[in-house]
Amino acid sequence: MKDTENHTLSFDDYDEMINPRPEECDFDRIVEAALSRRGFLGGVLTFGSFAAVGGGFSPAEAASNRFAFEAIGTSVADDVVVPPGFKAEVLVRWGDPLWSDAQEFDHATRGTAASQERAFGDNTDGMDVFFHNGKTLLVVNNEYTNRDILWGNNPDAKPASDDDIAKGMMAHGVSVVEIANTDGKWHIVKDSPYNRRITPNTEMELTGPAAGHDLMKTAADPAGKKALGTWNNCGNGATPWGTYLACEENFNGYFSSSEDVQDDNPKSITPEMKRYGVSTKDWGYGWAKIDERFDVAKHANEPNRAGYVVEIDPSDPNSNPKKRTALGRFKHENAETVINNDGRVVIYMGDDERGEFLYRYVSNGVYAAGVDTDELMENGTLSVAKFNENGTGAWIPLTPETTGLGSQAEIQIHTRQAASAVGATTMDRPEWVAANPKEAEIYCCLTNNKNRGVKTNAGGDETPAMGPNPREKNNYGQIVRWRPDAGDHTTPGFTWDLYVLAGNPTVHSDAYAGSSNVNADNMFNSPDGLAFDANGLLWIQTDGSYKNEGDFAGQGNNQMLAGDPVTGEIRRFLVGPKECEVTGLCWSPDRRTMFVGIQHPGERGDSHWPEGGDAVPRSAIITVTRDDGGLLG
Ligand code: FEO
Ligand code: CA
Ligand code: CA
Repeated sequence: MKDTENHTLSFDDYDEMINPRPEECDFDRIVEAALSRRGFLGGVLTFGSFAAVGGGFSPAEAASNRFAFEAIGTSVADDVVVPPGFKAEVLVRWGDPLWSDAQEFDHATRGTAASQERAFGDNTDGMDVFFHNGKTLLVVNNEYTNRDILWGNNPDAKPASDDDIAKGMMAHGVSVVEIANTDGKWHIVKDSPYNRRITPNTEMELTGPAAGHDLMKTAADPAGKKALGTWNNCGNGATPWGTYLACEENFNGYFSSSEDVQDDNPKSITPEMKRYGVSTKDWGYGWAKIDERFDVAKHANEPNRAGYVVEIDPSDPNSNPKKRTALGRFKHENAETVINNDGRVVIYMGDDERGEFLYRYVSNGVYAAGVDTDELMENGTLSVAKFNENGTGAWIPLTPETTGLGSQAEIQIHTRQAASAVGATTMDRPEWVAANPKEAEIYCCLTNNKNRGVKTNAGGDETPAMGPNPREKNNYGQIVRWRPDAGDHTTPGFTWDLYVLAGNPTVHSDAYAGSSNVNADNMFNSPDGLAFDANGLLWIQTDGSYKNEGDFAGQGNNQMLAGDPVTGEIRRFLVGPKECEVTGLCWSPDRRTMFVGIQHPGERGDSHWPEGGDAVPRSAIITVTRDDGGLLG
């Protein structure tokens, strides 16, 4: 297997190739039953015109149009497109220095490890804005790097030196940067005392039930309480006490084994590692070549120290980030935080892998001014979702009693296995979760799952097409929503329905056409990023196929849409440049600027965004404003 042969595979497909799932399983096809279930309004979930999915809750509210923009068409241009009356401008790009003594980005070399460590990281993802001491601080995940872009100046786009590998490493992590608005235009503030790069080498504290457990101990950290760094941070969250939550997703792809593998069952790869996709090969990053902690043949517990939600205090650039093991270990997408009516902290989280699960954390303590917030993030109950066919569901606590695992620490480390043990519902890759600010209601993007109804997940759990995952070989994705019983986010019970099934009504006339709120003018695939604005409009970002042909004909580049949770109506607001994903969304404190992430433009070699010409494509955050200076959410 030549490295370069895999450059055109997505990382999902690459993972699938090097971690093949068990063979096909045969299930009863129950799509019809799933699709005829009754939704929140009592209407039947059907396809084609005038069906009730997304049919809304309150006709009175539905009467007022909450979209303050004209929907736009698809685009295949290498540029950002927004509606008339709106403006998109680049705020900060991969490689832009955060300090005035650091080097500008060099298109010929793409920089060095040293320059990258002082510059904005690559592949912007989850982000949020914090207001502290009169300063506006933007905190952003830098999820990963693309070999063909990062090392595109080298033969075969491979690292030519240890410094090339280290450059990739320093492009990961989190960037904290002060921003300011001068004469109506946002810019970064170089040399701000708040500017910070958090990298895979930054010292962090391990906290919660798994801290100090034997599975967390390594040669460099015999106490199992200090870890180095964070990487592959995907979506995010924020707490009411002003901290940022960075969510570690595909952490597995950075580990490899120096074991001389003789057969298909290398000794250094345990069944526990396999469940998380750790294998003898990394995903091309090469980190074990420069840092042996990424070699699982030498440091078997090192992968147990990644896959968490990391809490970062942007107001203190010298603070050690804290890995919150109480929130479980899996491929975290984001961490949507809600304060329940009784003051307990509730965090909803997806595990973005085909056939993995959806989770909820509830703190034991109550949030109030002056409380110990560490306590809130360390002591609580992690539960996993089970969806019933009849539109109800339940959160099942993951405890030694319910799971049969030996200790709470092991549950927090082997969370996937614990969730399998209680029979949780296998999902179509849960991506971002978003809470409706207007009522006790939560939405989650289930981005796609080509294995639905075809293969089990990596733990051997079946994936029948049913419930909120009704379509086999689901290539379009859907958004599920649920309401906790009695409006209480800590109760076990909830009711659910589907807000939208993405699809292509110009190609299909069955369930793959999508639900009735999808039409030729607003269609999209693979919903991923998700956030509510202050008005209760749901913003949907896509990370899907931009082939614009076959099943995806007429869908163009990846995009951002807005959905009305009441009427179900969805309108396209923004289209990204070629081969990008649109991910990460937040607002300025005055709500007059929307910050939007444009990740991996040109991941397959066909973009020069944002600089154009022959420039290296660069992931970047853009600002979107209205020409009239009005509100955007
Ligand atoms: Fe990093 Fe699940 O997207
Ligand atoms: Ca995502
Ligand atoms: Ca995705």
